[in-house]
Amino acid sequence: MRVLVIGSGAREHAIVHALRRSPEVSEVFSAPGNPGIALAADILPLAADDIPSLAEAAADLRIDMTVVGPELPLALGIGDEFSKHGLRLFGPTSVAAQLESSKVFAKDFCRRHGIVTPQAVCAVTEDQVRPALKQFGLPVVLKADGLAAGKGVLIPSSQEELDEALETFFRRRFFGEAGAKVLVEEFIVGTEVSFMAISDGTKALPLATSRDYKRIGEGDAGPNTGGMGAHSPAMGLPKGLGRTIMDTVITPVIRGMAAEGREYRGVLYAGLMLTKEGPKVLEFNCRFGDPETQAVLLRLEGSFAALVKSAADGQLALGGLSWRRELVACVVAAAQGYPSSPRKGDHITGIEEAMAQPAVTVYHAGTKMDGDRLVTSGGRVLSVCGRGPTLEAALETAYRGLGAINFDGMTFRRDIGADTLARETLEAE
Ligand code: GLY
Repeated sequence: MRVLVIGSGAREHAIVHALRRSPEVSEVFSAPGNPGIALAADILPLAADDIPSLAEAAADLRIDMTVVGPELPLALGIGDEFSKHGLRLFGPTSVAAQLESSKVFAKDFCRRHGIVTPQAVCAVTEDQVRPALKQFGLPVVLKADGLAAGKGVLIPSSQEELDEALETFFRRRFFGEAGAKVLVEEFIVGTEVSFMAISDGTKALPLATSRDYKRIGEGDAGPNTGGMGAHSPAMGLPKGLGRTIMDTVITPVIRGMAAEGREYRGVLYAGLMLTKEGPKVLEFNCRFGDPETQAVLLRLEGSFAALVKSAADGQLALGGLSWRRELVACVVAAAQGYPSSPRKGDHITGIEEAMAQPAVTVYHAGTKMDGDRLVTSGGRVLSVCGRGPTLEAALETAYRGLGAINFDGMTFRRDIGADTLARETLEAE
């Protein structure tokens, strides 16, 4: 099988790695890829959102299956275009991808199908925010309706922060068209869990659970990022929770989308808050989570290629997936200034030394070659993963791997998994 992976992050590097381990796969291509992916795939110098050129390349190269990493090409209709040309692609069509590309659509969809989610109202002017604020109080969650590269959510908790947030959304129009509508949502507390399932349009199979760490700072301080680390499984979840999430979230979404003529094929990512009243949907993504995927796919036994091909063909076998008993921890090394203004061009060393350590895998994200030197070229630079029999061991391995790597301004959280370990200890006492 000849496969094409679209995207250039650590998630796509992990997808390439999983496809390479699949016995059916003979050749892997990636567009536009990154220097890490280039060691395992043939690179096509095409942007991830250049849909006509990607379709042409997939046809010319006789690609049997394309796997899309980021949300933008999906929202722009890469699924529709490939299907028009009879090209197999793992990922939803643009109308199905609206679950991620319009937060207002997703909220209304949940209401229509009885999927539990925090209360919210849609505002297009600052004045329309006020009644919701009276109802919800502070903190409150403000979300840009459209895609905003993971930066479209602000959670003001004081009057001053609220004024700033309103300025950002309504006066500065910082998010442009993506912020033309703003979802004002009640703030809820609980434990956040990322839950991903593979759907073939009518059936769905859950992937292993994971937990990701979105804030830049230790102790969950500072602004949201794309994700600074993850571990899989999520650990310490109530027994039967996976079944509950499948029954109350994933299956109703797949059925509801089909009933609305938006058949959903691809990976469905539900960002959930586990509350005393049960799981509530915070968001949907129409693609694999990053960095959760780096941790989850390292645990997958069996063929990733066969799994996603069967979903793309509408023929998912419901036998269930098997997962290595090992745990995986993933720590993201980010550039100085991430997330607001990451510095680029810093020389990266030590990746080979890290990879030479047992149970360490390093995935590239914001890296590029500058002559013969590898340098930083984006906010999240590398994902360093460690495997181990316990979360403690997996974390130790990931951090040991990270210890071999260096670039000026390298930023990472030292507390990935710490809250899970603390909870486990408490539960054990
Ligand atoms: N890690 C969160 C996301 O992929 O959206």
